[in-house]
Amino acid sequence: MPPTKLAPEEIRRGIDELGPWFYAFDFGDGLKTTPLIPPQVVGIHGTRLEMVETAAVAHFGDRLAGLDCLDIGCHEGFYAIQMAKYGMKVSAVDAREENLRRARFAAAASGAEIAFRQGRVETLAGDEGRTYALTLFLGVLYHVEDPMLCLRQVAAVTGEMCLIETQVVDEMEGSTEWGAQEWTRPYKGILAIIDESGEFDNGNRETGVTPMATCPSPKALLFMLRQAGFSRAEILVPPAGAYEQHARGKRVVCAAYK
Ligand SMILES: C[S@@+](CC[C@H](N)C(=O)[O-])C[C@H]1O[C@@H](n2cnc3c(N)ncnc32)[C@H](O)[C@@H]1O
Repeated sequence: MPPTKLAPEEIRRGIDELGPWFYAFDFGDGLKTTPLIPPQVVGIHGTRLEMVETAAVAHFGDRLAGLDCLDIGCHEGFYAIQMAKYGMKVSAVDAREENLRRARFAAAASGAEIAFRQGRVETLAGDEGRTYALTLFLGVLYHVEDPMLCLRQVAAVTGEMCLIETQVVDEMEGSTEWGAQEWTRPYKGILAIIDESGEFDNGNRETGVTPMATCPSPKALLFMLRQAGFSRAEILVPPAGAYEQHARGKRVVCAAYK
């Protein structure tokens, strides 16, 4: 039996009681959330969703309905709810209960049945103990302080394909001395160290679980994904009219395959 959607009055009350909201949800009947992010940035979600949907449809085709999907770092459940609309069986995890509270409401207001749970990507494989054909790891990698640990955990719960979206830093080519002046090693990309302590200390709901973050360059991202256990990874081409950061290659969506 399909899950029942909340009544309009319950949706209206939930929107007011649970705000402020990060995403622009449209629950129908004129019931919408007003997102916290500035109007010029709101388009980021349309581009990411279009890229996720296009990649998932291209890979899974008519297997999408009934597919097992895990949204890692799901926040208010925006992408998990979109995947549920395809008939996928969606589970979703986030470190913050305050985000999950809104996610559970947004799913109920959308008539989507999603299994939400609090948890950290750092311990995902042991906590889940299973794989999902499709995993989403959107907007999280550049908020964590140990990206390899996290990518290994994500790879371990991915059955077929993982879609990763992340900010990337500019590529740095070069090599370094390695034990003696005449011995060198080429860079495989770089990881920048980012201080998010300002946002973290202010209770921002989008940061990682510690104030230090790292951000990969595109080559580093691809190299790390293969080291983490994916057999192949590719950076996807953004669509026409993409959000400016994706269009300029400062954020990327990457498909990684087991
Ligand atoms: C920038 S938001 C991205 C949310 C959503 N995936 C998206 O792409 O719009 C990062 C989310 O990941 C969660 N998060 C951060 N670090 C995490 C961790 N180590 N384990 C699980 N969730 C984490 C945050 O609570 C937040 O909801």
